[in-house]
Amino acid sequence: MSERVVLVTGACGEIGQALVQALAQRGGYRIVTADLRPLPKTLEGLPQEHVRGNLLHTAKQFYDYDFDIIFHLAASLSSKAETDPEAAHRINVEGTMMLLQMAAYKSAKYGKAVKFIFPSSIAVYGLPDVETKTAAGRVREEEWNDPHTMYGCNKLYCEKLGVYYSRFYQQRHLDPSPPVMLDFRAVRFPGLVSAFTLPTGGTSDYGPEMLHAAAQGKPYACFVRPDTRIPFMAMPDGIKALLMLTEAPREQLTRAVYNVGAFSPTAEEFRQRALQAFPAAEITFRVNARRQGIVDSWPEAVDDSAARADWGWAPDYDVDRFFDEYLLPNIRAFYG
Ligand code: SER
Repeated sequence: MSERVVLVTGACGEIGQALVQALAQRGGYRIVTADLRPLPKTLEGLPQEHVRGNLLHTAKQFYDYDFDIIFHLAASLSSKAETDPEAAHRINVEGTMMLLQMAAYKSAKYGKAVKFIFPSSIAVYGLPDVETKTAAGRVREEEWNDPHTMYGCNKLYCEKLGVYYSRFYQQRHLDPSPPVMLDFRAVRFPGLVSAFTLPTGGTSDYGPEMLHAAAQGKPYACFVRPDTRIPFMAMPDGIKALLMLTEAPREQLTRAVYNVGAFSPTAEEFRQRALQAFPAAEITFRVNARRQGIVDSWPEAVDDSAARADWGWAPDYDVDRFFDEYLLPNIRAFYG
């Protein structure tokens, strides 16, 4: 079988690095990466080409490629986006729209649907207060779609744009023989935690930051209350979800956007795990009201039964396996 040509935007970010490594390990892909930053050491030699620069300027040049799959990961995360919401909108929405337009054009031109895989987020949810959040429990995809952040608005809108370009663009569905349209698929991720990289600018960052600080013997002040509970997932499961959704036969998909869940520890539970593993860890709480407000609006857990039913989703890591078999051994080895 010939190689599939893949574009990974935001390739130097956390998901990007893990995804490019997984694709290279599987083989059968010709990988083109794109990012503002130069390729990190971890990715050297893996992509055939790295396109460096602002996606708003580089997106046009992707018309010269024939991608089978686009993983559009580049984004400004939730906390960072609040510091300059309009700039975040440009990155998160305009960049996505340019790539969707390109993928729609290519799908029609070659009569072959380009797969457009999009990581959405629990940030698309917005619960009004903690009482409602606790009462809501596991939320379904169509519930509480009232984001409190620019990032959440951007992700929710880009999900809609993806559906628009894949089904209704130029109202092609009304043609008796419409051209092929792109194949848009999205997962709504919880906070992802990697043992090898740290997030920047997110609001779920307290989880990974606390563990990475403890492993390095650095003190850490957690910016949310101890009782804060949101969903998290091990990075390998995040990559597994992206690849499973990419490979799922289209006729099995009953929707374009899927929740994926794993486990939901409180910030205090993260602290206890860190202390068990690194008894000298110094972890305190210093609440940042704005960031607390963001996570308080995110659900405690997600209902991912659609992903389980349609494409066989199940995480490999529950909370115990996550700490004991993935995070702690790898983070210890990583920091020596
Ligand atoms: N982890 C992301 C953030 O905190 C949520 O998608 O912004």
